[in-house]
Amino acid sequence: MSKNKSLNNNKQLFIEPDNPLKLVEEWLKEATDGKVQRHPNAMSLSTLNIKNKVSSRIVLIKNLSSKFDYITFYTNYLSKKAEDLNSNNSAAGLFHWDKLGKQIRIEGCVMRSPEEESDNYFAKRPWRSQLNAWASMQSQPISSQDYLEKERIKKAKTFGIPEKELLSKNTDYDISLPRPSYWGGYRLWIDMIEFWQEGKDRYHQRLKFKRKIEPKGEIFTCSQWVSEYLQP
Ligand SMILES: Cc1cc2nc3c(=O)[nH]c(=O)nc-3n(C[C@H](O)[C@H](O)[C@H](O)COP(=O)(O)O)c2cc1C
Repeated sequence: MSKNKSLNNNKQLFIEPDNPLKLVEEWLKEATDGKVQRHPNAMSLSTLNIKNKVSSRIVLIKNLSSKFDYITFYTNYLSKKAEDLNSNNSAAGLFHWDKLGKQIRIEGCVMRSPEEESDNYFAKRPWRSQLNAWASMQSQPISSQDYLEKERIKKAKTFGIPEKELLSKNTDYDISLPRPSYWGGYRLWIDMIEFWQEGKDRYHQRLKFKRKIEPKGEIFTCSQWVSEYLQP
């Protein structure tokens, strides 16, 4: 593979064949540095329910690093997506940075993050976000928004947070709450990544990487990557 320009002056996709995650890291950095959108780490996550009905939603990817064979997101373990993942751990992720003319598709299998990792991440969150994780039974129906407000006040009381601090915008008050057992991370272990780069006159470039992943205790073992170019 060369770093030469292709026929239509679109810089040719070049990826170190042993680790395509380096390019995922690079593109995410480009999107972050370029401030192309408010949440450059937003990824559409698709899951399947027990009847193979597919659904998608946005989650934020955290701690993406080419040192790892997975990407991590955080959510509620009782949510709809978690229910799907309990019965089928296959998932697909999609990033699209319109201003960069770039898309990344990711597929793989999901496993919960180690408890300690979720604890550490939760501990770094602002206390109001921590409290909201306690108060919200994500994906469950509620009769009204007031219900949630009452839950927040109730939970705040259990943690000894004065109501006036909860309602104020004061940033001096400082407290850290423990992580609820029903909230934490998931690692999406990757067995497919496809890079798509927009070209002139729809002369786009697509490069796909595949490998096999096998569950082994708390991790997946991963084979070597194999790559191929695809027609646009
Ligand atoms: C920009 C953005 C970021 C979001 N980040 C997360 C996230 O990191 N984790 C999460 O559980 N939900 C996140 N959400 C909300 C989800 O899209 C979704 O509404 C929620 O997780 C419930 O999905 P479910 O009912 O399919 O489980 C985000 C939504 C948006 C628009």
